[in-house]
Amino acid sequence: MSAPRTALITGANSGIGLALATELQQQGYQVIATARRDDAVAKLAAAGFLALPLDVNDTKSRQALRQALQARGLSVDLLVNNAGFGAMGPVLDFTEQQWQAQFATNLFAVALVTKELLPLLEAAQGRVLNIGSVSASLVTPFAGAYCASKAALHAISEAMQMELAPLGVAVQWVVTGAVDTGFAARASAELQWLSEQSPWWRFRDGITRRANASQDFPTSAAAYAKALVKQLQRPPTRSPLYVGRGARLLPWLKRWLPWPLLSWILSRKFGLSAPTR
Ligand SMILES: NC(=O)c1ccc[n+]([C@@H]2O[C@H](COP(=O)([O-])OP(=O)(O)OC[C@H]3O[C@@H](n4cnc5c(N)ncnc54)[C@H](OP(=O)(O)O)[C@@H]3O)[C@@H](O)[C@H]2O)c1
Repeated sequence: MSAPRTALITGANSGIGLALATELQQQGYQVIATARRDDAVAKLAAAGFLALPLDVNDTKSRQALRQALQARGLSVDLLVNNAGFGAMGPVLDFTEQQWQAQFATNLFAVALVTKELLPLLEAAQGRVLNIGSVSASLVTPFAGAYCASKAALHAISEAMQMELAPLGVAVQWVVTGAVDTGFAARASAELQWLSEQSPWWRFRDGITRRANASQDFPTSAAAYAKALVKQLQRPPTRSPLYVGRGARLLPWLKRWLPWPLLSWILSRKFGLSAPTR
């Protein structure tokens, strides 16, 4: 009997990551569920996963993960780069540190985790799946940093797909629509930093609305995971995957609606009035 395929997930302790870990395990994968906090790792272990610590932004943590897998003689058939968060707020209000944090987790870490695990992916002739977003194409106000990080993630996914193919490692990304997770609550909680001195303070209701936008009629995380894992059962193609509410519709709107019209609709939706001067 052959060994079960292994699937390693970053940020597996909540939302999409946890739902994917559960669904992949049900489909017979040996799931390596990673999380950055000790209590989260302990919970994942108690739930029956091979749970290992990983802070995707920490070089030593990434190295320790690879060593722990090598010590167990494991290769990686599927790497899901899922860890991420939504930094919400007006583009010009972001500090340098906030820019760096958003891009470190949502973009740089995807390349750095994949690089660290490349020998194990090559050994399995495995697959990398990057969790992208409709926000990569449908850019809204007050989510410019997040949208930019996901647009850049789609861009490096395309490059990674071409560059890793000769090594026998397939790369795909999933255009994720609205999924019911803690994402919006975290994004809203983060908004505490908004300052009354900001020129956009008077639009704070619209900013909060944008932070919660992913939770307008979302797909459940379990249904998202089921649909995505079903697509992963097929041999990888070079096409992006589309899963979750609005995953096909929103990029389509961006493509076909004239930008002046879409910009007007989105400005109204998030409470941005015409110039007052
Ligand atoms: N929900 C949606 O509607 C939606 C739509 C499009 C795309 N996405 C994408 O889906 C992915 C998962 O988000 P979610 O909706 O499931 O939200 P979530 O429940 O907030 O999950 C995010 C996960 O990422 C982890 N994480 C953040 N920074 C990390 C780090 N430095 N190292 C390791 N783990 C880290 C979090 O761990 P902690 O608990 O330790 O913070 C958490 O487990 C993200 O990439 C997000 O951009 C979500």
